[in-house]
Amino acid sequence: MNSEPTSKRTCLAVVLAAGEGTRMKSSKPKVLHALAGRSMLAHVLAALAAAEVDHVAVVVGPGHEAVEAEVQKLKPGAEIFLQTERRGTAHAVLAARQAIARGYDDLLVVFADTPLVRGETFLAMRRALADYHAAVVVLGFEPEDPTGYGRLIRENGELVAIREEKDASEEEREIGLCNAGLMAFGGHGALKLLDAIGNTNAKNEYYLTDAVAVARAHGVLAAVFDVPADEVLGVNDRFQLSVAESYLQERLRLAAMQAGVTMREPTSVYFSFDTVLGRDVTIEPHVVFGPGVTVAEGASILAFSHLEGASVGPNAIVGPFARLRPGAVLHENVHVGNFVEVKAAVLEAGVKANHLSYIGDAKIGARSNIGAGTITCNYNGFSKFFTEVGEDAFVGVHSALVAPVKIGAGAYIGTGSVITQDVPADALALARVHQIEKPGWAAAFRAKNKKS
Ligand code: UD1
Ligand code: MG
Repeated sequence: MNSEPTSKRTCLAVVLAAGEGTRMKSSKPKVLHALAGRSMLAHVLAALAAAEVDHVAVVVGPGHEAVEAEVQKLKPGAEIFLQTERRGTAHAVLAARQAIARGYDDLLVVFADTPLVRGETFLAMRRALADYHAAVVVLGFEPEDPTGYGRLIRENGELVAIREEKDASEEEREIGLCNAGLMAFGGHGALKLLDAIGNTNAKNEYYLTDAVAVARAHGVLAAVFDVPADEVLGVNDRFQLSVAESYLQERLRLAAMQAGVTMREPTSVYFSFDTVLGRDVTIEPHVVFGPGVTVAEGASILAFSHLEGASVGPNAIVGPFARLRPGAVLHENVHVGNFVEVKAAVLEAGVKANHLSYIGDAKIGARSNIGAGTITCNYNGFSKFFTEVGEDAFVGVHSALVAPVKIGAGAYIGTGSVITQDVPADALALARVHQIEKPGWAAAFRAKNKKS
């Protein structure tokens, strides 16, 4: 085989995103439902980017402005085509005729509701086109239950047709090898094949799958590329969405462990598509990673913690029961303990905030100690204000730091203080009422009440 490297071949991907998704019972278009922190459509677009696709055309249905907005956000160069009537998968692909007619070397047809296909698989389909000199490459898989899928019909080992369940004979329904739906076409001959597809079948639809029989009739080759069934799971309802999620989470967990992360109870940890974990990170059970989290080497995320948009430095300890919200930046050796919430705040190296605190819109200098129950009062109902604590400061328990406020390096804040003014470096600030004592008051009070 002396095929050109894929990177030298141009490629157009047509993404079918016109599904109504009625079985989702949702006001949101199906392909915008999320897996591991981003939409199914976003997963597909990311896999296409990994497959060195030059241009993307997305086919949407009527009233799918939200889908268009998502495409524009994720892939501003993509073209959008409208399929006004749902008349079959081949009809949907031809909505992008204008793009296909430009004549790319490879044409990939993918479904936005089939979100787990890997970039490598798209690349392999492209390579198969070249290696087999095929006009069409079909993705084949063997589901546990083939009901509902198109069956791959072969004669003498060669793919000759795909038969939809509704059009299949009893005998054909016995076939276990099924069509995953997605296909690759030699881009220059694709329109000729697609235009030759008719709609004489049980559903009166233009079936993309008929491209195989049409290719045979035109004397060009159709080939099959096999994929594992869990990669081509299609999502039509919330149950299938949850199955896709579990496959994806399994992949993410495996990748984390292969990269040197210890997980005590992997199945209880929830990752985002973009979670970045360093070597020798430990994750205890029941941890949730929202999008945008980075955890550096040697850090520990203890049980029942929730992190989102946060960065955790080397050897830091987070949790148990900690919450890191967007903009939380923890440097080396920071400890954030139980029932501590951090938002838009930088905690420099060695800071300890171990119990029951809220630190929001703040910068805490290196090695400072934030006592239990300390709250940064950052919001007055209209605006947010900033709190700055210098290095080596000690904030006593149950202090309220009323922002905007600065506490100097090395300062001490007495327990239970409400700090409304800046505190100079190395000073002690006390902002609480003095203790009053009335000797014998309690005994007298009790005696009086017992009598009555
Ligand atoms: C399709 C395949 C079938 C395969 C199965 C795998 C065809 C004819 N059949 O069947 O062989 O086993 O996928 O899951 O291709 N769409 C449009 N416009 C249309 C019709 C469909 O955009 O007019 C989109 C759908 O939103 C979906 C995709 O194309 O994303 C597939 O359509 P769907 O109706 O789910 O096809 P299946 O019957 O599942
Ligand atoms: Mg389907």
